[in-house]
Amino acid sequence: ALASHQAHAQQTYPNRYITMVVPFAAGGPTDIVGRIVADHMSRTLGQQIVIENTAGAAGTTGAARVAKAAPDGHTILVGPMSTMSFSPALYPKLTFNPLTDFEPIGIAASAPIMLVSNTAVPATRLAEFAAYLKANPAKLTNGNAGVGSTSHLACLLLNNRIGASVTLVPYRGTGPALQDVVSGQVGYLCDQVTSLMSQVKANAVRPLAVLAPTRSPVLPDVPTATESGMSGIDMVVWNALFAPKGTPPEIIEKLNAALVKAITDPASREKFLQLGAEPPPENQRSPQALHQVHAADVTKWGEVIRSANVTIE
Ligand code: MLT
Repeated sequence: ALASHQAHAQQTYPNRYITMVVPFAAGGPTDIVGRIVADHMSRTLGQQIVIENTAGAAGTTGAARVAKAAPDGHTILVGPMSTMSFSPALYPKLTFNPLTDFEPIGIAASAPIMLVSNTAVPATRLAEFAAYLKANPAKLTNGNAGVGSTSHLACLLLNNRIGASVTLVPYRGTGPALQDVVSGQVGYLCDQVTSLMSQVKANAVRPLAVLAPTRSPVLPDVPTATESGMSGIDMVVWNALFAPKGTPPEIIEKLNAALVKAITDPASREKFLQLGAEPPPENQRSPQALHQVHAADVTKWGEVIRSANVTIE
């Protein structure tokens, strides 16, 4: 009876609304990517997808919530590379294992990190910014989305490279951090280009460098860090969907198919490209491809974090 009940549940899935947990505040890249795919996926699946912003501890609070949710496809996570790959090396008391407590669904989009400052900072290029920061470390604060977020680690690598000891200001996501860069309360931020584009276009923040191997097609005039003489601090960030471990394969397949439909739809694809984010190429869209990328990043960033001597205060 149990087996037939489960088979029935899978056939009728989803039979009520789906909760999509975004583990950071609204307005940041995780939230923006989640909302674009949720909007399209809800049409494919015929059920509403409700975004729940469960922020805290660089995404690990929201990820823990999904790891412990019923594995029935009605609670899923937008997992950023940071929360899913940095946390094991940073949080000794992590209550979940990002690699073994989830079923991968698929990658939604990836985007490079960009350094932006408030417009009062007297620098228009990375070299000028580095010289100014080194000479005036007390004049600028560095916003981020909490210890272990990509905004934290990316700027930490940059600060270390510049050799400046700066005050870090943690937020519940880079959405609110960016607001304080715009207002001038915070000096600078390293975040995925996805959430920065609208403020860059409005000239409300200054783009200084793209921390990625290539320039961003939406900001062709902004040099890469390597072009500016600072190599080895690049970070391209993926955001992906995950379900609790034990979610039936048929449900994962349905979710993956709806996700792929969303990211290949011309309208949502265009939304991503306009923001400087890129949906994965065809051979990177499966749950298995996400698992491989994820496992490689746990190893890669674990080593970076250990050698950078990053610890939680
Ligand atoms: C991060 O720093 O990992 C993200 O930007 C967090 C966010 O989406 O706000």
